[in-house]
Amino acid sequence: MQQHWPHPPVTAHRRPVTEEESRLANGADWDRYADEYQATHGEYLGDAGFLWGPEGLTEAEAGVLGPVAGRDVLEVGSGAGQCSRWIRGRGGRSIGLDLSHRQLQHSRRIDEETGVAVPSVRGTATHLPFRDDSFDVVFCSFGALQFVADIEDAVAETARVLREGGRFAFSITHPTRWMFPDDPTSEGLTATQSYWDRTPYVEVDDSTGATAYAEHHRTLGDWVGILAGAGFRITTLLEPEWPERNERLWGGWSRVRGRLTPGTAIFGADLEPR
Ligand SMILES: C[S@@+](CC[C@H](N)C(=O)[O-])C[C@H]1O[C@@H](n2cnc3c(N)ncnc32)[C@H](O)[C@@H]1O
Repeated sequence: MQQHWPHPPVTAHRRPVTEEESRLANGADWDRYADEYQATHGEYLGDAGFLWGPEGLTEAEAGVLGPVAGRDVLEVGSGAGQCSRWIRGRGGRSIGLDLSHRQLQHSRRIDEETGVAVPSVRGTATHLPFRDDSFDVVFCSFGALQFVADIEDAVAETARVLREGGRFAFSITHPTRWMFPDDPTSEGLTATQSYWDRTPYVEVDDSTGATAYAEHHRTLGDWVGILAGAGFRITTLLEPEWPERNERLWGGWSRVRGRLTPGTAIFGADLEPR
């Protein structure tokens, strides 16, 4: 993988990292990165748009969440709330949760600019500050899950706050991408790392030695086990193709790689009766 964001100067490692270390590093990283992220991707995301990933697949096209009108919906890792604003526009009672204060400030800014407010709270995916059985739908569009070390806790928390029969859907970097360097050019098409190596990707601040960023890998089989183990029945696994018209570069995502390998995995699952 390549350094995901050039500030501060960091060195990349593959090494174990705890949940607390991941949370502290990633919250601060998203606070630093939020302005640049929204300036670079905000227009593509749309203030009230719902994209599942860099390929540009929308929820209107994919329909992974099912009906949202009249439903209580939680977005985990909501960033600036674009997806939740799209749901509000369709009659859903969506709210956002994010680790980054700065991302939530952007959410508030867009609330004011659009007049569509997404009530949002600062928190972490592994300790959701909601009562049991509060939501009909919980989703993450590239939010939170790959930044969490204790993934079983995050998925158990999702199951706890969902009502019976509730829907959980999320997009993540496609697990097979972990075999390749995070490079959008053809250099990123040669496998250099083991698909089965779950050792986290960690960036360490060169000047302080502190963990500055952490990302976590699970294989497709791991995800099946994690979801089934928390009481979910998987109904959907989408692997969107890269549209020929899409010329966007987004980190390691590009047409060059997207023509040949999937960059995003989108899971949908229903909570079984307890
Ligand atoms: C790639 S952004 C996705 C946000 C939004 N869905 C979008 O497409 O712009 C990932 C978001 O997850 C948030 N995040 C990272 N770790 C988290 C955690 N443990 N709990 C909640 N949110 C987290 C980050 O702060 C960031 O806003």
